[in-house]
Amino acid sequence: MADRTKYVLDEDRIPRAWYNIAADLPVPPPPVLNPGTGQPIGPADLAPLFPMEVIKQVVSTEREIEIPEPVRDAYRLYRPSPLYRAHRLERALDTPAHIYYKYEGGSPSGSHKPNTALAQAFYAREEGVTRLATETGAGQWGSALAFAGAVFGLEVKVYMVRASYDQKPYRRVLMETYGAEVVASPSMTTNYGRSVLAATPDSPGSLGMAISEAVEDAATRDDTKYALGSVLNHVLLHQTVIGQEAIEQMGMAGESPDVVIGCTGGGSNFAGLAFPFLGRNLREGAKHRIVAAEPEAAPSLTRGIYAYDYGDTAKMAPVAKMHTLGHDFIPEPIHAGGLRYHGMSPLVSLLKEHDLIEARSIHQRSSFEAGVLFARAEGILPAPEPTHAIRVAIDEALAAKEAGEARVILFNLCGHGHFDLSAYERYLDGTLEDFEYPRERVEAALAGLPQV
Ligand SMILES: Cc1ncc(COP(=O)(O)O)c(C=O)c1O
Repeated sequence: MADRTKYVLDEDRIPRAWYNIAADLPVPPPPVLNPGTGQPIGPADLAPLFPMEVIKQVVSTEREIEIPEPVRDAYRLYRPSPLYRAHRLERALDTPAHIYYKYEGGSPSGSHKPNTALAQAFYAREEGVTRLATETGAGQWGSALAFAGAVFGLEVKVYMVRASYDQKPYRRVLMETYGAEVVASPSMTTNYGRSVLAATPDSPGSLGMAISEAVEDAATRDDTKYALGSVLNHVLLHQTVIGQEAIEQMGMAGESPDVVIGCTGGGSNFAGLAFPFLGRNLREGAKHRIVAAEPEAAPSLTRGIYAYDYGDTAKMAPVAKMHTLGHDFIPEPIHAGGLRYHGMSPLVSLLKEHDLIEARSIHQRSSFEAGVLFARAEGILPAPEPTHAIRVAIDEALAAKEAGEARVILFNLCGHGHFDLSAYERYLDGTLEDFEYPRERVEAALAGLPQV
């Protein structure tokens, strides 16, 4: 059917296992280190923070990890997610390229984040935990964990980066509606938050700071574990339901993507879509190009260095080898709050270091321009984060037009932007600003990397 727009799968096609790319990597990933001792981290170091099942997944090299039935059952609320062919965007661009997008914005909380929130909440409950602490940047992750807490009967405390807390008040209301408690970070409820506020009372916060607060909260309470929305291996693993479904749906469309694109904050929606395709490259010699799209204001993959660094500002979270801008670097308050992170997932970083993926950085006005073009053609209002992926998809489609080539492009539309209308308003009234790559501030932050 030439004009088919949506490729939908029945509920019984929800994947039964997550795909673990660690089984197919060309080199083993460097060990994650204890922030206190600088030695490789073991399960005992992580036990105060994570449920044991999650710790096993962080280090597992099994290719397939079974999805527990209660998690699969909760996935039924919104999975399988649809794959769309963007016919109208193709026509607007007058391109011979075929553009497809996997839409994760139809989940209850509006993004891909419940794919891992449900799993993490389930494992915590199984181990008798009653409360979860976390950070949130854009508010998407906090909303997802608040929803998952409601599903599995857990209390949830969310440290929300101050800049997003001020930009998106309704995200807080959504989290509270699900039953979570939300504070702006830096906050007065942790030692670390109080120390930051004493030095910088008007701090806009950062994901690195909010992680420190949530880690401190979990490490100092017996009833609480820490849940993380991105970066570490288990989170990327849980997101691979996206790419596995997309492989089946692209098969229904009778096409195979030449290019697979995702935006990258900590790397989880990108990995979720891309890793199952990358697995085919690694195992079967397939030739999908895989492109990560990141903001110019926090360009860890394109301008950061590949080194051991702390995952958080207070140096409490594990130290990982990754592309980093330095744990002290606080990105400008761009509206893609979920992409304001100094580091990158160690797995995504390793793949970039071995040239198995590409990366591009994009200014926020250019990404919003792409988001508005997309909304006018396809009707869905994208979250600011995936507008970076849309920008790259559009550029690929225009390059295909230039080359007179029928390129097949697939990207992850990982969330809707219904809570981001103030950002769109600023774009539409011409007051949204771009931020140049802050070379001096990054150089200063990199001077503080751990010596390992
Ligand atoms: C809609 C959306 N996309 C992307 C991201 C970035 O995270 P990740 O790179 O882990 O997908 C976030 C993070 O909050 C988000 O909310």
